[in-house]
Amino acid sequence: MLVAPSLLLLVFLVSFGTLNAASECGEIPITEWSGTESRRKQPLKSPIDLVVIQHTVSNDCFTDEECLLSVNSLRQHHMLLAGFKDLGYSFVAGGNGKIYEGAGWNHIGAHTLHYNNISIGIGFIGDFREKLPTQQALQAVQDFLACGVENNLLTEDYHVVGHQQLINTLSPGAVLQSEIESWPHWLDNARKVLG
Ligand SMILES: *[C@@H]1O[C@H](CO)[C@@H](O)[C@H](O)[C@H]1NC(C)=O
Repeated sequence: MLVAPSLLLLVFLVSFGTLNAASECGEIPITEWSGTESRRKQPLKSPIDLVVIQHTVSNDCFTDEECLLSVNSLRQHHMLLAGFKDLGYSFVAGGNGKIYEGAGWNHIGAHTLHYNNISIGIGFIGDFREKLPTQQALQAVQDFLACGVENNLLTEDYHVVGHQQLINTLSPGAVLQSEIESWPHWLDNARKVLG
């Protein structure tokens, strides 16, 4: 119920065509899905060479409607927690195969202590300790990263790591972790390489 005003605002913004946000790789701008800009304003230097995969441990979402509610409640949850200026993830991936902008490509998020200023953090909506995200979500993130390289937002030889490779967490969940270990840019020994 908390998200109803955001939904109304979304309908308003979309129907009046007042949006002026950049979507570099098909991500849905935060102004579009939530109605206000991210408060994360510290510049992040591009191109980025580290992508941290995480999970949100919130309910899965599959439809556009569910994912819109889900990402809005994540943002509200982060903003209500002390010390969180705004949604911490750089991007959030829904089970519907859509990518939602958080801190985005150009601003430092708050997702991986000590690595926020050299990486983007992508949170898959759901809990992936025992199952995979949808094929649409997995494909969307891979396409998104490929687009990032094409647009010089990511380096050509960027690295992908699971959240748990850098800090003490179960994120992104064992099943999703083993999935990303098959991705071509996956980096083993992350702490050793990244320091
Ligand atoms: C990131 O932050 C660390 C610690 O605050 C700092 O030493 C480092 O130079 C920063 N890196 C970049 C790329 O800004």
